[in-house]
Amino acid sequence: MLKLANVHKGDILFDLGSGDGRIVVTAAKQFGIRATGIDINPVRIAEANENAQKNGVTGLVQFRNEDLFEADIKDASVVTLYLLTSLNLKLRPKLWHDLKPGTRIVSQTFDMGDWEPESRKWWKATPSFCGGFPRAPRRRSEAWRGTLGALARRISSPSELVTR
Ligand SMILES: C[S@@+](CC[C@H](N)C(=O)[O-])C[C@H]1O[C@@H](n2cnc3c(N)ncnc32)[C@H](O)[C@@H]1O
Repeated sequence: MLKLANVHKGDILFDLGSGDGRIVVTAAKQFGIRATGIDINPVRIAEANENAQKNGVTGLVQFRNEDLFEADIKDASVVTLYLLTSLNLKLRPKLWHDLKPGTRIVSQTFDMGDWEPESRKWWKATPSFCGGFPRAPRRRSEAWRGTLGALARRISSPSELVTR
């Protein structure tokens, strides 16, 4: 996901629904960027903080126990998602409203409805990857990547998006 998002020095990543923090911690460790995880489950937040500590990235990362629909995400340059298509669709108006043009959005496995991705990447899902394909762990999973800049060129107004 991080490669697909073309994460690089200076990016600010938000993982909405950050689970055990693996995306946030990896972004900080491999790319030296600031990253924030938002999760509604306090147990996941505790795991994520432990994960950050173990990997020596507590200075770069933050985990917030919040509802992702209420979170302040306006500083993001990259947003990662591993939710469900239904949640992605519910999230679209917020992404559109809160994020700066050019922010890259990557969604693991679940698409963004009629927001067309700029690129897709396929790989084998590992059985341990949370929320993947527990009944068919060898099935290939798909990641969706798009930027608000590209979307803005195709969509005439934010209100159009909200009603789709
Ligand atoms: C499939 S896991 C993804 C974990 C992580 N992003 C990853 O890729 O490994 C989805 C996470 O979203 C969280 N979540 C679901 N609904 C949420 C909401 N409304 N606000 C914040 N977190 C939420 C769940 O608690 C869960 O940890």
